[in-house]
Amino acid sequence: MQARTKSLKFQRSKIHSWGVIALQSIEPEDFVIEYIGELVRSKVADLRERRYEKMGIDSSYLFRVDAENVVDATKHGGLARFINHSCDARILPNCYTKILTVEGQKRIFIYSKKHIKVGEELTYDYKFPFEEQKIPCLCGAER
Ligand SMILES: C[S@@+](CC[C@H](N)C(=O)[O-])C[C@H]1O[C@@H](n2cnc3c(N)ncnc32)[C@H](O)[C@@H]1O
Ligand SMILES: [Zn+2]
Repeated sequence: MQARTKSLKFQRSKIHSWGVIALQSIEPEDFVIEYIGELVRSKVADLRERRYEKMGIDSSYLFRVDAENVVDATKHGGLARFINHSCDARILPNCYTKILTVEGQKRIFIYSKKHIKVGEELTYDYKFPFEEQKIPCLCGAER
């Protein structure tokens, strides 16, 4: 995977705490950035999730790649871990993720869905499963 990461920075977000904004304009379907972290088994991720909660880390940097594996960007991650979620397809999100297998290992790549202007916050749909205990989404979508 030789594609170049786009020029991005993190800053305070209107959606939640920190977010990632574009420092260059991005064309639709461009590669934006890889979601880097430690690839761990689901059971390890579950244990870590509880530990992080106890430590008071209120953001989750765990990204599920398939039924067995999760990428944990909590301690060893890149800028992509600060990209917030959005669920309204009408306005946002402006990015989406692709899980690709590179040399036998699943990796997470983030692509743009549409033209993104300089200064625009990046978002993608986390596609969280529906759960009993709901977390309110602050992306500003009407639905
Ligand atoms: C991968 S982090 C994103 C970066 C995060 N804003 C931060 O400052 O660390 C994911 C966490 O951000 C928060 N988050 C992301 N998108 C959100 C949204 N649309 N509404 C509410 N919270 C959101 C949740 O706490 C989630 O666990
Ligand atoms: Zn939302």
